[in-house]
Amino acid sequence: MSAYQTNDQGELMIGGVPATQLAQQYGTPLYVYDVSRIREAIQSYKQAFATQAINYSASYAAKAFATVAMFQVAASEGAHLDLVSGGEITTALKAGFNMQHTSFNGNNKTDEELQLALDSGLGTIIVDNDYELERLSRFASDRGATQDILLRVTPGISAHTHAYIMTGQADSKFGYDVASGQALAAIAKAQQLPGINLRGIHAHIGSQIFEVAGYVAEAQKLVALAAEAHYQPEIIDLGGGFGIRYTDDDKPLPTTTFIDALTPAIQEACAAANMTVPDIWLEPGRSIVGPAGYTLYTAGSRKVVPGIRTYQSIDGGMGDNIRPALYQAKYDVLLASQPDAPKSETLTIAGKNCESGDIIAKDVALPPVHPGDTLAVLATGAYGYSMASLYNRNPRPAVVFAENGKSSVVVRRETWQDLVDHDLDYDA
Ligand code: LLP
Repeated sequence: MSAYQTNDQGELMIGGVPATQLAQQYGTPLYVYDVSRIREAIQSYKQAFATQAINYSASYAAKAFATVAMFQVAASEGAHLDLVSGGEITTALKAGFNMQHTSFNGNNKTDEELQLALDSGLGTIIVDNDYELERLSRFASDRGATQDILLRVTPGISAHTHAYIMTGQADSKFGYDVASGQALAAIAKAQQLPGINLRGIHAHIGSQIFEVAGYVAEAQKLVALAAEAHYQPEIIDLGGGFGIRYTDDDKPLPTTTFIDALTPAIQEACAAANMTVPDIWLEPGRSIVGPAGYTLYTAGSRKVVPGIRTYQSIDGGMGDNIRPALYQAKYDVLLASQPDAPKSETLTIAGKNCESGDIIAKDVALPPVHPGDTLAVLATGAYGYSMASLYNRNPRPAVVFAENGKSSVVVRRETWQDLVDHDLDYDA
């Protein structure tokens, strides 16, 4: 599929609605999701799973973009949810999500969060460490309940985009270390503790990954760990991390290619360990929502630094998309009214925050851009809204869902008044 769609007039379309119309109707900066692309992404996993000889299931990693409306779309497409905070749990509850179909990750879950998880009937808690395991056992036993869990382990594999590295020990804040025996001990302990039903093992090797090799190594490690513990897991959860296209530099694998390669590797690893193949869970976040999201901005002032570059400022920036500043992330930018017009300008798209590093995209080729024009940044659907901040007291943008030519607001725009509403006077 092309990275974007245009109508007969050559205008950028999102969910069947011209992007310029969305900008006009809802104001900018604006996050817009093409909902059908979210649905297609979820279905691409389901379709890839359907042809496999082993059971897979996908939990959407909510951290990529967590709102009530998103969770409702996930529910309607039959995805499960992986949650990481009391806020995300509360969002799932408000969305009416079937909590049995959720999991709860995180390296420092508070008492309140664990109690909320138990209160809400959350399906599987992915336990990260002994402090959590012991508290959860106590909280569940106190209620006369038994909580399904997976244990998060760090197998010493980390994958970054085009390569994975395997180290003896993982220098990571997450999970039980495999190399030093912590994971083995945790499996034994979890099987003994009251209030706990150990169902399997979880790991996560990284994000924006383009190759299957790291997942294969991960699966092999987890199977070997279970075998060493004389433990037959019902579930092995390989985490998320499936890469997407931001610019032409990125070459993601189709979901089916990933899964088709993973299945035989898992089967072999289990056969070699004399183990029944467990159910395989995945936690894709970015690949579900990233490509579906656009951020619309209005072009404002411009500065030409002669012989160096031209800065075209926009009405948003690092407050709504921290990824370029934080990870040097690259994005495609389009002139919404005529994305395919001849590109005669090279512009650096600068945010409005008071910080030189607030650059959304450097030296991008664009048709002539004038103040008031709508610019669209592509593939901002993951870790954009969810990592938005109030830096410089710029309110967070609205989120709009567009589908089949219709659009609606799913997160209201914050106002200046909203910002001060939480402030209290200080009377010394
Ligand atoms: N499962 C676990 C346990 C994770 O830690 C993550 C992401 C995922 C699943 C989902 O990974 P995904 O499929 O979205 O790659 N803020 C960064 C990404 C941080 C990812 C953290 N964990 C970014 O904007 O690139």
